[in-house]
Amino acid sequence: MRPDAQPIPYPQAEAVASATARLAQFPPLVTSWEIERLKTLIAEAQEGRRFLLQGGDCAERLDDCSAESVTSRLKILLQMALVLAYGIRRPVIRVGRFAGQYAKPRSHPFETRLVDGAPRSLPSYFGDMINRPAFTPEARRPDPGRLVEAYQHAAMTLNFVRSLCDAGFADLHHPEYWNLSFFAHASLSEEVRRQYEAMSRELASSLRFMEALGERSVDDLSRTTFYTSHEGLVLEYETALTRQVPRREGWYNLSTHLPWIGERTRQLDGAHVEYFRGIANPVGLKIGAGTDPIDLLRLVDRLNPINAPGKLVVITRMGADNVNATLPGLVEIVRSAGKRVLWVCDPMHGNTAPAPDGRKTRSFNAILEELDRTIDIHRRLGSWLGGVHFELTGDDVTECIGGASGVTEADLNNNYATLCDPRLNYQQALEMAFLLSRKLGN
Ligand code: PEP
Ligand code: CO
Repeated sequence: MRPDAQPIPYPQAEAVASATARLAQFPPLVTSWEIERLKTLIAEAQEGRRFLLQGGDCAERLDDCSAESVTSRLKILLQMALVLAYGIRRPVIRVGRFAGQYAKPRSHPFETRLVDGAPRSLPSYFGDMINRPAFTPEARRPDPGRLVEAYQHAAMTLNFVRSLCDAGFADLHHPEYWNLSFFAHASLSEEVRRQYEAMSRELASSLRFMEALGERSVDDLSRTTFYTSHEGLVLEYETALTRQVPRREGWYNLSTHLPWIGERTRQLDGAHVEYFRGIANPVGLKIGAGTDPIDLLRLVDRLNPINAPGKLVVITRMGADNVNATLPGLVEIVRSAGKRVLWVCDPMHGNTAPAPDGRKTRSFNAILEELDRTIDIHRRLGSWLGGVHFELTGDDVTECIGGASGVTEADLNNNYATLCDPRLNYQQALEMAFLLSRKLGN
């Protein structure tokens, strides 16, 4: 057995076994056809013919499995995808951190707080798939029954996402219905405001033109294909949903299309890499500022020994201040070894900082800066940045600071709703898409 860098301290092994036995009997959430199709799209993105947009909550909550929550998360992602496709002039592959993003790696397995003046240690909150956030022994005890509940909520979420995508989002094609009120905000310069307005006008008119072309193209446009992804952290859950399928070789993780390995579990000889190298899905690999180029090359070889197209997505999350020093060496070594990867930038996880009150926040400018620098580095090295990865929500939260909507440190109290990392709110996410679209389109 390879070491698991984030083992879940389950108190009852039999209960885990019976939960995973139930999971193993449930039908899959996704199909191998969809997974193979996504691999083909990723292979095209690796060649610069498509762009990938991945986004959603840091940690999905089981309680977020509601019509409003799913609709608003899906809507912001689809709107961003349209804005990006318009600027980049390439189709965008849409991937949610949806329907399974219920488990979180933690820096410490235990959390200590003062309770009635005395320090008390309890297991950390590992996400709704494992335990509950309240700081009580009952809530924090890892409960294997939650593995089954997570599957059920993923199934309900995905069912609704599929229905919405099949029916087409009526107001997606009418940017006049989008919430673009940030255009009016005072902190935007006149020039940027004019650019945003021109972009959304042109976007609206191209969409109307396509609609006028006839029903087929409208149908094609509105029947959006949407893929799911989550961090493959809890191997009990992932393996129970890993299956063989008729007439195909290998093993598929049928809980999601694009599982990824987190920065904390990517050890070359660890349990997660061992699991991921055995599945046929495309695989994401998150790497931070401390990544050694030789280690990256070893990981790339381990996860994709035959250098198959569409297989590996490398998600860099360096932090705006580190990207210039670390990214070029990584891009160079992969390129000179002739390895096929899709480079994606996650500008969120390297830019987390404490606000004065201790809560985690991220600045809109730092996020944008990491994207800007990453794009410049890829351009300079003749490489293609083929995607972006965001933590965001469709709601009006106040967790990240900045952007034209003008969230300040003082506003964090208004609606700081995340249990984990700070997310871009609706307006920040849409503005980010406009800025990226402009930069990538140049
Ligand atoms: C995440 O994506 O929520 C996460 C924990 O990322 P990373 O592994 O990059 O820290
Ligand atoms: Co996160």
